[in-house]
Amino acid sequence: MTDHGVNPSSRVLVIGGGYTGQRFAAAARARGAQVWLTSRSAQEEPHWLRFNAGEGAIPELPEALSHVLITLPPNGDGEDDAYNVLRASLEPQPLDWVGYLSTTGVYGDTQGQWADEGSPTQPGLRRSQSRLQCEQRWLASALPLQSFRLPAIYGPGRCPFQQLEQGTARLIHKPQQVFCRIHVDDIVGALLHCCDLPAEARPTVVNVSDDLPCPSSETLGYAAHLLGCKLPAVRTFQEAQAAMSPMALSFWADNRRVSNALLCQKLGYRLRYPSYREGFTASWDEERSRPK
Ligand SMILES: NC(=O)c1ccc[n+]([C@@H]2O[C@H](COP(=O)([O-])OP(=O)(O)OC[C@H]3O[C@@H](n4cnc5c(N)ncnc54)[C@H](OP(=O)(O)O)[C@@H]3O)[C@@H](O)[C@H]2O)c1
Repeated sequence: MTDHGVNPSSRVLVIGGGYTGQRFAAAARARGAQVWLTSRSAQEEPHWLRFNAGEGAIPELPEALSHVLITLPPNGDGEDDAYNVLRASLEPQPLDWVGYLSTTGVYGDTQGQWADEGSPTQPGLRRSQSRLQCEQRWLASALPLQSFRLPAIYGPGRCPFQQLEQGTARLIHKPQQVFCRIHVDDIVGALLHCCDLPAEARPTVVNVSDDLPCPSSETLGYAAHLLGCKLPAVRTFQEAQAAMSPMALSFWADNRRVSNALLCQKLGYRLRYPSYREGFTASWDEERSRPK
C-alpha cells in the first residue's frame, strides 16, 4: 500500500451513490476506509448524506476528506449542479484525489477510428457537448482532479439478460458499427489504481474502456448463449430506426473505438474483464447467486 492509496486512514465521499458510486464505496470500505455517499432520497444509515444538487442547498460535508468521487451527470440544461453547489466546499478540504466520471462521448464520432486521450474532442451530441463543458470546468478547478472517460457501463443488473428473457431485446445490424464498454468493477479497479499512484503520476484524463470494441449483435449473441435462449430475428438499422426513441437513436450516432493504452500499458492497470465475454459471464454468475 502506498501513502496515496485508499487505505484505513482514508475518508472518502462519493457524490452520487448510484450504480458505480456504490461499487466504488464498497471497494473503498473493503480497504478499511471510512466512506460516505450521497443520495437524493432520505436513507436511514448515517453514512448516507442527503444531497439534491438541483435544490441548491449545500450539504454539510464530513471533515478532513482525502478522496472524493463525483458521479453526477449534467442536468437537463447541460449544467453541472454538483460543480455549482459543491466545488467551493470541496476546495478547502485536504484532498489527495478527486475522481470525476465523464464519458467517451466527448470524442464524438470517429467513424470507427481509435480515440485516445490526445484525440480531439468533437462531441456531436448535445449531452456530450454539455459533458465536455462540465469536465473542463472540474479540470480547471483547484482540486487534484482526474477525469475518467467511460463508454457504456455494464455489470450485474446492467446486462441484456432480462431483455432476452422478457423478449424485449433487439438484434440490430448496422454495417461497421461498434460500441465500447466497461465492466463497473473495472471502473472501480481503475479508480483505485489511480489513487494508488503518486499525485504527479496521475494523468488528468484517463479512458477506462475494455480491450474489445465490437457490434452489439455480438454481445447480445453471447448473452443469449449464456442464458441458453434464442436470439430475436436480426433487423437492419434502417428497418429498426423508425421505431427508436431519440435517446436510443443517439446511441447509434457515434461510431468509435476507445483506446485504453494509457491506463493498461502506461499506468499498468490490469483489466479484470478484458472483454464482454469474461464480464457477462461474471455478471450472470453474480445475478444468479443473488437471493430472489
Ligand atoms: N451508464 C452508462 O453506460 C454510462 C456511460 C458513460 C458515462 N456514464 C456516466 O458515468 C456516471 C456514473 O454512471 P452510473 O451509471 O453509475 O450513474 P447512476 O447509477 O445513474 O448514478 C448517478 C448518481 O448521480 C446522482 N444524481 C443525479 N442527479 C443528481 C442531482 N441533481 N443531485 C444529486 N445527485 C444526483 C444520483 O442520485 P440518486 O441515487 O439519488 O438518484 C446517482 O446516485 C454518470 O455521470 C453517467 O452519466 C454512464
